[in-house]
Amino acid sequence: MIKKTIETNVSIYNFEELDESQKRLINKAKEQVNKAYAPYSEFHVGAAVELENGEIFAASNQENSAYPSGLCAERVAMFFANAQYPDIPVRMLAIAALTSGSFLAEPITPCGSCRQVLLETEMRFEKNIKVLLYGTNHVFEIDNVKQLLTLCFEKNSLNR
Ligand code: THU
Repeated sequence: MIKKTIETNVSIYNFEELDESQKRLINKAKEQVNKAYAPYSEFHVGAAVELENGEIFAASNQENSAYPSGLCAERVAMFFANAQYPDIPVRMLAIAALTSGSFLAEPITPCGSCRQVLLETEMRFEKNIKVLLYGTNHVFEIDNVKQLLTLCFEKNSLNR
């Protein structure tokens, strides 16, 4: 029997320590919470995606009375970006969430379905997507989506 440890490396920053492009993307994600349609959970999420060409797409969660029909902010933003620019890799993603009128103190972490969708984009372009998870106390930075979804199922899994 062999035991293996799979690590996820997270860099933890104060917002002020981030560089200008990171701050800008987080601020775009924060702005988007005001556009969320979240009457059921009242959990307002914003996501912003920066492409290699510098273009930014930002989006929010969109809920539905038939609950599973709604979609998280990350997937709305990523699908939107990929639909507009199918040939341009994504460089960075930022996520922020607001509930009861305040941004979360601890960084918001994307759900499993979003991680799977984000990974598809990372694999599709063979380019790491830097992930920034915003909290008022600190910001998590993860170098790529693969680290958020270890032992993942991806396109190469289909050919094993
Ligand atoms: N949600 C997101 O948009 N992103 C996340 O990372 C976690 C959850 C949304 C889905 C739903 O509209 C609400 O937040 C509560 O789960």
